[in-house]
Amino acid sequence: MKPIGVVASGSSAAIAPIQVYKQCELDAKEEAFVVVKDEAKNLNYLGVLRNLRMQDPLLSPNLRSSVVDNPGLARMGREVVFETSAVRIIGVLREDGSLEPSTQPPTPRSEVYLVESPSDVNLKLEKGLVVGSHKYSGIEIPLSPKSLPYHIGIVGATGTGKSRLAIALIKEVLANTDWKVLVFDHSGLDYKPYFPDKAVSADEVLPDVEDIYNHLANIVKEREEDAYLFYTLIAYIVAGGDPGAVKSRLQSEVRQFGRREGGTDEGGLEGIISEFLSTNPEEALKHVNWDLAKFGEVLSSVAKALGAKKTTPAKYRVKLASKARGFFESLKRRRLSVGELLGRLDKERVLVVDLSTVDYEERASILNAVLGRLWDRIDETKTPVNTLVVVDEAHNYACRECGSVDIIERTAREGRKWGLGLVLVSQRVVDFSTWVRNNINTYFFSRLQTPGDLQNLQGDLDLGGITQENIALLREREFYFAGLGNPLRHPVLIKVKTV
Ligand SMILES: Nc1ncnc2c1ncn2[C@@H]1O[C@H](COP(=O)(O)OP(=O)(O)OP(=O)(O)O)[C@@H](O)[C@H]1O
Ligand SMILES: [Mg+2]
Repeated sequence: MKPIGVVASGSSAAIAPIQVYKQCELDAKEEAFVVVKDEAKNLNYLGVLRNLRMQDPLLSPNLRSSVVDNPGLARMGREVVFETSAVRIIGVLREDGSLEPSTQPPTPRSEVYLVESPSDVNLKLEKGLVVGSHKYSGIEIPLSPKSLPYHIGIVGATGTGKSRLAIALIKEVLANTDWKVLVFDHSGLDYKPYFPDKAVSADEVLPDVEDIYNHLANIVKEREEDAYLFYTLIAYIVAGGDPGAVKSRLQSEVRQFGRREGGTDEGGLEGIISEFLSTNPEEALKHVNWDLAKFGEVLSSVAKALGAKKTTPAKYRVKLASKARGFFESLKRRRLSVGELLGRLDKERVLVVDLSTVDYEERASILNAVLGRLWDRIDETKTPVNTLVVVDEAHNYACRECGSVDIIERTAREGRKWGLGLVLVSQRVVDFSTWVRNNINTYFFSRLQTPGDLQNLQGDLDLGGITQENIALLREREFYFAGLGNPLRHPVLIKVKTV
């Protein structure tokens, strides 16, 4: 290894100031790995260079110097200029290549060597998921698979390579663990092309009954009378979309007992509800023939059974006809239940849900339904699901006002117990709800959109002296890797492998 400097006075077990040899000023780079060979203590420290500074003992920035009066002097005596840096100590290298925490300051005057290739140090890190290697030394820094259920954030300005990093991670998880990976592809352009035969389109996914009801109620907006719509939907589903069948069921009680004995259409409706409760709604939904006109006919019968005014069904039918046509058309295409979707995930181990085919509101509700179903499974079986859930453009799903924030918060808080980990990919971590942010234990971050983002990360992570200045210098595919999943327990700069 090439010696590049010596430890200066004032070192601590965590930071050693160094002076760089004159002829090595071009070799010393921010974020380079170095080894401090402390012969006095017989210890080798592994560290990273941060905060390189050029100094001139004769040219204080705020004292008048003779150079100002004699510019010729600036050209002479350049050899008095010198470079300093700080070595952030990562640990002490043991004989067997493992690292132990540093507990003593390196002795001043110890020599500092540049690590230029993995063979320079026989570093043995625990096996894990390799998404990239240290920028200058090429040493692979594997993410510990044990950190998956403690959640991962991938943050950076647009174009820094976040989605590619997530793909590298997904491939590693599939190749080296027994975990499954469920991806929510916000744009439909980032993940689907990499797993073309493992993708489903959100507009094929059947919403659940509650979602359909909410959507229709939203269209009709008759706050007080939503019961008509609710019973109509249930009756329509039970009868598979056949208005004749609904009519006959509504009259079943009358037929059985006769009106004089108290048989009513309303009683028939109760029968429909009990029948619905005893069926599997997901199965029932798959056999419904969605037709707006027929739905309107059922609505008229149901409203009559409930004793509505004569004008009421007409009002509903007009509103539905003018505003719900597109929704009914889309329901016709939807044949994949959430249960079947998870079945595919079980079989294939990776599934990409292309959310770009539905509007924003529905994207959150699909994520909610799918992740909610995974939680149902956990609640029923009380066994781990070992699943990584990747959410790209996650600020649309994990923000305080987002429709899916509750289920993401639950996953962030409780997922660790059940092998359910999140990978949240976003340009803006400030938009995540506090609960979500507080539970992300590993971060990959690159150039950030706003300085506020770094302050937020600082609140949640030990940044090891990384500043806005360092981050501003990062290029595409360069990320700091920090937090629980990093085996060095100290943030380091990696270059993501080619995806
Ligand atoms: N690991 C990589 N391997 C190959 N190319 C990469 C890699 N990372 C980034 N790139 C290049 O940079 C471009 C942007 O990467 P990516 O789409 O991952 O960025 P992003 O941070 O997700 O951006 P956005 O915020 O706009 O979604 C890619 O189209 C690709 O050309
Ligand atoms: Mg992206």
